[in-house]
Amino acid sequence: MKKTISIGVVGCGYWGPNLVRNLDYLNCNLKAMCDANEARLAHLKSLYSNVECVTDFKHMLNGVGLDAVMIATPVKHHYSMAKASLLAGKHTFIEKPMASSSCECEELIAIAKRKGLVLMVGHTFLYSAPVRKIVELVKSGDIGEIRYINARRLNLGLFQNDINVAWDLAPHDISIILHVLKAYPMIVNCQGNAHVTPGIEDVSNISLAFPNNRFATIQNSWMEPRKIREMTIVGSRRMIAYDDVQTAEKIRVYDVRVEHPPHYDTFAEFHYSYHSGDCYIPHLDLQEPLKLECQHFLDCINNGTMPLSDGHDGMMLVRILEAASASLKRHGAPINFPQSRNGHEPPATRCRVNKGSACCSGDFQSSTEKPTG
Ligand SMILES: NC(=O)c1ccc[n+]([C@@H]2O[C@H](COP(=O)([O-])OP(=O)(O)OC[C@H]3O[C@@H](n4cnc5c(N)ncnc54)[C@H](O)[C@@H]3O)[C@@H](O)[C@H]2O)c1
Repeated sequence: MKKTISIGVVGCGYWGPNLVRNLDYLNCNLKAMCDANEARLAHLKSLYSNVECVTDFKHMLNGVGLDAVMIATPVKHHYSMAKASLLAGKHTFIEKPMASSSCECEELIAIAKRKGLVLMVGHTFLYSAPVRKIVELVKSGDIGEIRYINARRLNLGLFQNDINVAWDLAPHDISIILHVLKAYPMIVNCQGNAHVTPGIEDVSNISLAFPNNRFATIQNSWMEPRKIREMTIVGSRRMIAYDDVQTAEKIRVYDVRVEHPPHYDTFAEFHYSYHSGDCYIPHLDLQEPLKLECQHFLDCINNGTMPLSDGHDGMMLVRILEAASASLKRHGAPINFPQSRNGHEPPATRCRVNKGSACCSGDFQSSTEKPTG
């Protein structure tokens, strides 16, 4: 029989209450909510009167009897809170991006492994119906070979003060792209500008070059009058347009392609062949991605399985963000993303974290579906 998992959420600002709302709905024991801001806690207490409210995270970890913790605080707190949570023996979910550095991610992965705990990262879009449909279409071969992916995630704000727009918004796009392509990039470029807060870029353009001549571009902005969440996946047979702002009909599959003539003798005989067929809108089982994500965390704890978005995925994404930041500092210079011998996954970094402690290396099917090379 499945155990009812006792769970707590830390960080009840903008995003945390969405986790709380879903956990309250799911079959688990939502036992505690923690926030340093008493006004936020008072508001949540008015909505969930049976749930214990605490301002001290240490008290939530040690004094409430939790099996699992979900962390939705600003990124700068992710590592220290997740480390404390894992060391206290709690299965741990961390919102994206997993931590401020890949060294921190490596350490968290090692602790979770050593203690046999589930470590999951909030790559929410992997649980959304449109992304699941895109993966299904790509896997079926319907789209052909993917040539490139173009993503645009733009909005007015919400301005952050500890991370730039690439660290804030690109995790969504990068996680989708890695999941669709099942590969890691070889080269990362990023350009951007800080217009409002000095030193914190509010617009950025990332390019990712993948093996086999594929690439992806990601445009992110907090300085856009319209809310845009678009992605185009261009395949050799068909193309997918994904617009997440639409309430229905989020995906359109276009039967369009361009082909070389099979053979020609003179330039006059050379004509590209433009195929323009039908466009169709696949049916999507639209459930709230966050609900599925929370359920998946509970299932992984109960079944002892690896999450679709585990610590390793979180770390690889942070490594790409680190490469983007390095490129940004060098005005868009290409940063090589080291490839392993199997041609895809970079080898573990050998980095040292604060105080000289060494980092260690480190229907949702997981492991076999991941980019492995
Ligand atoms: N998955 C998604 O789609 C998605 C969307 C938005 C935000 N997020 C992520 O959620 C996280 C939180 O973002 P947000 O926009 O809600 O931030 P926020 O600033 O609105 O909320 C953070 C909350 O954490 C609290 N907090 C800070 N330090 C604390 C401490 N030491 N102990 C207890 N509480 C503390 C703050 O008081 C605040 O209420 C970030 O990692 C962000 O990237 C994810």
